[in-house]
Amino acid sequence: MSALLTGTPLTGRVAVISGASSGIGAATRLARLGAKVAVLARRKEKLDALVASINGGGTAVAVPVDVTGREAVHAAARQVADQLGTADLVVNNAGVQLISPITDLRQDDWQRQIDLNITGVMNVIGAFVPHLTAAAAAGKPADLITTSSIAATRILEKFSVYSGTKAYISHLTRLLRVELGPQNVRVATIEPGMVDTDQNDFLRQNLLPDGRYDEARGDRPSAYTGRYWVNGTRIDYLDDLGFWAYGEFRDGELHHAGYRLTRR
Ligand SMILES: NC(=O)c1ccc[n+]([C@@H]2O[C@H](COP(=O)([O-])OP(=O)(O)OC[C@H]3O[C@@H](n4cnc5c(N)ncnc54)[C@H](OP(=O)(O)O)[C@@H]3O)[C@@H](O)[C@H]2O)c1
Repeated sequence: MSALLTGTPLTGRVAVISGASSGIGAATRLARLGAKVAVLARRKEKLDALVASINGGGTAVAVPVDVTGREAVHAAARQVADQLGTADLVVNNAGVQLISPITDLRQDDWQRQIDLNITGVMNVIGAFVPHLTAAAAAGKPADLITTSSIAATRILEKFSVYSGTKAYISHLTRLLRVELGPQNVRVATIEPGMVDTDQNDFLRQNLLPDGRYDEARGDRPSAYTGRYWVNGTRIDYLDDLGFWAYGEFRDGELHHAGYRLTRR
C-alpha cells in the first residue's frame, strides 16, 4: 500500500538530488513537501527549468555537475552549503542503463555504467556524508537514499553490467546502514521496477522501434501499464512484482526488456 505525502513535513530540511534533470529525480516532490532543494545533473538548461517551476512554491537551486568527477562533486557540496546550508537529505539517484549481450563486448558502455552508477554514487557519498553526519550530530534528521533497481536481484538477460552496478548499490546500502545508523543517519535504497523515463529509450529504439512503442502506450502514461491480453505476437501482462509490462513473442518466447517468459 502506498500513500502520497501531503503538507510540508520537510520544512527546515535541505535536500540534494542527483540526476534531477529528468525522470525519477526530476519527479521527486521534495520542494513541494517543504524542503529547500539543490538539484544536480549535467544539463544546466533542464535544471534551470526545473528550478523555475519549483521556485513559485518552494526554494530550489541548480547545481550543474558531472558526478563522475570527484572534485566537481566536492565543489557542488560546498556550493550547497553556501547557498542552502548543510544538506540533511541526499537522494543519490543519477544512473544510466545500457543493455547489451556480454558477447557484444561494448566495453565503453560497461565503463559508462560503472563510472556513473558506482563511482558517481561514491563521489556523492564522499562529498555529502560529512553534511549528513554534521546534521545528525546537531540533532536534525539525516537521510541518505540511493536509487538501485529491481535489476539488483533479478536475473535479466543482457542486463549484466547494469544489474551488477545496482547490486553494488543495494548491498552498499545495507553496509552503510551498519556504519551510519549508529550516528543517526538513516540509509535507504529504492529498487524501482520499470519506469517510463529517458533511461528506457533503448526499448523505444530496439524492442519497439518506428513509433511502435508510442502506439503500444496509446494514451496511457507508460507502455508498461495496461490489461493482460495476447494478440498475435503481442502481449501485455502483469508481472510478478505487480507492474504491467509489454512484450512480443519471438520463437515461442516473450521478450521484454531482457525478460524471457515461455509461452504456454
Ligand atoms: N527508469 C527505470 O525503469 C528505472 C528502474 C530502476 C531504477 N532506475 C534508476 O533510477 C535512476 C534515475 O533514472 P531515470 O529512469 O529517472 O533516468 P533518466 O531520466 O535518464 O535520469 C538520469 C539522470 O541522471 C543524470 N545523469 C546522467 N549522467 C550524469 C552524470 N555524469 N552526472 C550527473 N548526472 C548525470 C541525468 O541528467 P544529465 O543528463 O542532465 O546529467 C538525469 O537527470 C537511475 O539510477 C536508474 O538506474 C530507473
